[in-house]
Amino acid sequence: MPPLPVPQPRPQRPLLLSGLMGSGKSTIGPLVAAQAAVPFLDLDAVITQTTGRSVPALFAEPGGEPAFRALEADTLRRLLASSEPRVISLGGGTLLDPDLRAFALAHAHVVTLTARPDTLAARTAAPGRPLLDEAPDRLQRLRSLLASRAAVYAEAHAHIRTDDRSPEDVADAVLRAWLDPTLVVPLGPRSYPVRLTQDAPRTLAEVACTLAPSAVFVVTDENVAPLALEPVLASLRTAGLRVPATVVLPPGEPHKQLPAVERILAALVESGADRECLVVALGGGVVSDVAGFAASLLLRGVRWVAMPTTLLSMVDAAVGGKTGVDLGVAKNAVGTFHQPSAVLIDPARVQSESPRAYVSGLAEVVKAAAIADLSLFDLVGRERTRVLARDLDLVREMVLGAVRVKTEIVTRDEREAGDRVLLNFGHTIGHGLEAAGAYTRLTHGEAVSLGMVAILRVGRALGVTDPEAAACIERLLVDLGLPTDLSREPLDEAIRLAALDKKRTVAGIRVVLLEGLGRPRIELLSLDALGRLLHAGMQSASV
Ligand SMILES: NC(=O)c1ccc[n+]([C@@H]2O[C@H](COP(=O)([O-])OP(=O)(O)OC[C@H]3O[C@@H](n4cnc5c(N)ncnc54)[C@H](O)[C@@H]3O)[C@@H](O)[C@H]2O)c1
Ligand SMILES: [Zn+2]
Repeated sequence: MPPLPVPQPRPQRPLLLSGLMGSGKSTIGPLVAAQAAVPFLDLDAVITQTTGRSVPALFAEPGGEPAFRALEADTLRRLLASSEPRVISLGGGTLLDPDLRAFALAHAHVVTLTARPDTLAARTAAPGRPLLDEAPDRLQRLRSLLASRAAVYAEAHAHIRTDDRSPEDVADAVLRAWLDPTLVVPLGPRSYPVRLTQDAPRTLAEVACTLAPSAVFVVTDENVAPLALEPVLASLRTAGLRVPATVVLPPGEPHKQLPAVERILAALVESGADRECLVVALGGGVVSDVAGFAASLLLRGVRWVAMPTTLLSMVDAAVGGKTGVDLGVAKNAVGTFHQPSAVLIDPARVQSESPRAYVSGLAEVVKAAAIADLSLFDLVGRERTRVLARDLDLVREMVLGAVRVKTEIVTRDEREAGDRVLLNFGHTIGHGLEAAGAYTRLTHGEAVSLGMVAILRVGRALGVTDPEAAACIERLLVDLGLPTDLSREPLDEAIRLAALDKKRTVAGIRVVLLEGLGRPRIELLSLDALGRLLHAGMQSASV
């Protein structure tokens, strides 16, 4: 009997090809559509068909470009009313409107095709392009269009370079990007994708080639290097990228200190790193915090890509651009905001994590779910056997859910002027406990688990937290194998160390309480009050 055909993954929603004129949208679109066996549409052609007028004719009408843009937006919104997978190539200016861009990102997979200005100029040399024909210097005009539209093209699920490669090769890369579940952190020109991929080394090479760095430096740790480093280096080199140095750090939180940063900076400077280089952080949250921080400092900031390898770093540490190190016992006391250029997640990496590290990551999943996603909370509770067995489909779903919570909050408040504080639910007392254990007794996630229980007690003592919701969260933490017993924890010491927390001002410390599941609330408390309420909450919980 012939072997049964292996089911091929199918795209789940429309693909929009974006990019400046000459980037190859109308060449690549039909190729991708043919490979995926779905229809191809050209937005301009659809408009011409429905109005009976050509695009230049519509531009020349009394309403001019604004009227055309409105028609274009209506047509695209109408097409995206159906989630049926199709390839739609857009005009170079279709996504100029931020509202339409947000709509497109929510209802389709948006891929920007990129090319160097000289490639674009060569591809658009023939007359018939109004925006270029009027310009005295076409190359200069293309450069300024690229600069002025940086945010428009940056806000996409993927960017695929088209210079010096065959259309088939580009189409293949676009199709792979379309098939990978991806969330976008839309921050204008600093936007970036968080992409789940089964072939992280190949995806990294694709992403790195689009970024066109002068050199790539991989930072990892001694545990991750034997598991994941070689394929990453091989893939980068095969793609023709220069990889002059790799830094392998000693693992674990006790090494998340300034000497690790200095070591990375020294290795990169000695290898001739310039401002166009790219740093890749391959590892858990410690590696992404340290390497991202080093990238933010080197030559006043170079680009970096995060490749998280622990559940904790996939769902939290690698996303959002907070980088930094501990200073002695002061947790994350030195750091910067420096967004990565991409986050590439291979969820299968969690399989080799120690049980302790994996379960630690579940604490951040519970945190995200408790503050903002009831369906994620239900999923983790209902499917906890599969969660603990690290069932890959479930890990994928959990990672997407938790990353969605994080990206939405970071998009609203990149620099923690407001809502981003919510992500610190469980972290104030948690960080204190982590420091009290000299960063060795508890993992970060274990400390966060205990910190969540502690702040739920504080909320109950204040009469803010619904006891039912608190019990529900505690039960889930216990079921997942996370620590919840505060009776032997050095709580006073933890509160004392919380004084080092960045959320502290002279007026007190900003803590995140929960009124109920999905209903967080920020409260300013003095350290004294925090200590008193915690003890009161502990007593009432024990009676
Ligand atoms: N920047 C942020 O927004 C943010 C958010 C949450 C947490 N964090 C930070 O993240 C850190 C915790 O991250 P973590 O739990 O990933 O710690 P970690 O990086 O120390 O990783 C845990 C352990 O697992 C090993 N490891 C990593 N990947 C592995 C793999 N695939 N297989 C086998 N072993 C592997 C590591 O070497 C380490 O020993 C803390 O420092 C915390 O403060 C930062
Ligand atoms: Zn955390």
